[in-house]
Amino acid sequence: MSTIAALARDCVALSPETSIAAAAETLLDSACEPFLSLPVLEGNRPVGVLTRHAVQQVYLSRFGRDLYGRRTVADLMQRDPICVEADSTVEDASPQVTARIGFPIREDFIITRDGDYAGMGVVVDLLKAMDQRIARRNQELAGALHRLKESQAHLVQSEKMASLGQMVAGVAHELNTPLGYVRNNVEMLQGLVAGLRAVADETLDLVHLLGDADADPDHVAAQVMATRQRLDRDAPQLLLEDLGQLLEDTIYGCTQIGELVSSLKDFSRLDRAASEDVDINECVAGALLIARNVLKERVEVLRDLGDLPPIACVPSQINQVLLNLITNGAQAIDGRGRILVRTRHEGGHVSITVQDTGKGIPRDVLPRIFDPFFTTKPVGQGTGLGLAICYRIVQEHGGALRVASAPGRGTRFVVSLPVSRDLPATAANTALPAPEHRRMHA
Ligand SMILES: Nc1ncnc2c1ncn2[C@@H]1O[C@H](COP(=O)(O)OP(=O)(O)OP(=O)(O)O)[C@@H](O)[C@H]1O
Ligand SMILES: [Mg+2]
Repeated sequence: MSTIAALARDCVALSPETSIAAAAETLLDSACEPFLSLPVLEGNRPVGVLTRHAVQQVYLSRFGRDLYGRRTVADLMQRDPICVEADSTVEDASPQVTARIGFPIREDFIITRDGDYAGMGVVVDLLKAMDQRIARRNQELAGALHRLKESQAHLVQSEKMASLGQMVAGVAHELNTPLGYVRNNVEMLQGLVAGLRAVADETLDLVHLLGDADADPDHVAAQVMATRQRLDRDAPQLLLEDLGQLLEDTIYGCTQIGELVSSLKDFSRLDRAASEDVDINECVAGALLIARNVLKERVEVLRDLGDLPPIACVPSQINQVLLNLITNGAQAIDGRGRILVRTRHEGGHVSITVQDTGKGIPRDVLPRIFDPFFTTKPVGQGTGLGLAICYRIVQEHGGALRVASAPGRGTRFVVSLPVSRDLPATAANTALPAPEHRRMHA
């Protein structure tokens, strides 16, 4: 139903000259249900409505029928009836009618076309039509909400995959350095082993000759000479020293590779369950390790890590927050700069500050940075979900994420987490943030 015209009902119309008695007969006739009032028309123009209530009042009063029966409806009608143009929508008509209708409802409204009478509208019909519209709208809204939730879940998932990709790229890059020198060392070891093997071969030949009673003395003398020359040339003592050093370095490289792999494991298990005793300083160290690829040589990292109690949190989520903040800081620095990471334990909370010497955030941009999809980065470089997800994660941990920025000088983010509390759900439930944010401006 698109316009109010669909609600128009046919009913007997009165003229101002109709007697009240005749009108009462019509109105009180049961065929006249469900009308509470009848239109009074002059020509085709509505000039009033005669309500059932007014007629009943007259007829119930003493001698009412005899006193008023012969008068005309013009004396009893309600002038200035509620009129609604037929092409109004139900939404537009509803406030027009309800603004003027009395309570309890005693009259209907008149539907007009270009001011001419086009039928009566029954208030109950209008309320029903509104009800249906609201039910339909609710259904549409529920559908839209469902679709929105689904797409949010997809986005959160793709942001998780993007963080995972970023971590993997970071770790792959970091693995390259120790892997490079472990390989180098092994190649050098190959050379050293070749020298030692030559010494061993000469020495073995000599031992065989010396053990042979029939050996030609000249041959033995020549072998002694060859062995001595080999020992002088290859200096097995020095070879063994180098070998020891190379093996130590190689083991160190393998340990570094092992550490990187285990930090990747911590990071990549995004749905890892909450834990009661997480060392936030370890999370900071892990995040900085993973972020080394983004920080490169150009960003100096200053660590100021305080003594912290273990806290209850989902460590992989906190890692994700720290990585996002550190990455944003590094991306805000053109050329060289510094990022300070400070942790403190203050009054039941652990705070983590990530402060950069980057370009800062303009005053008009600051209120929007936590909004999902807000990014100032070129297309393809930022999804604008990083801070939105950080905000949500911190909020789910019962903490707060604040920002202060001085354009041209840098930005400071402070994550504050309660030391103990009910643990939040896993990252799988992380949705986008509600619009209200707790922020601190510079
Ligand atoms: N440390 C910072 N210094 C300056 N601007 C920042 C900083 N951190 C965030 N911003 C601003 O806030 C915006 C939103 O950050 P957010 O991390 O949500 O998305 P993004 O970094 O643009 O994209 P994504 O994190 O998805 O790669 C950024 O585009 C940037 O304008
Ligand atoms: Mg970001």
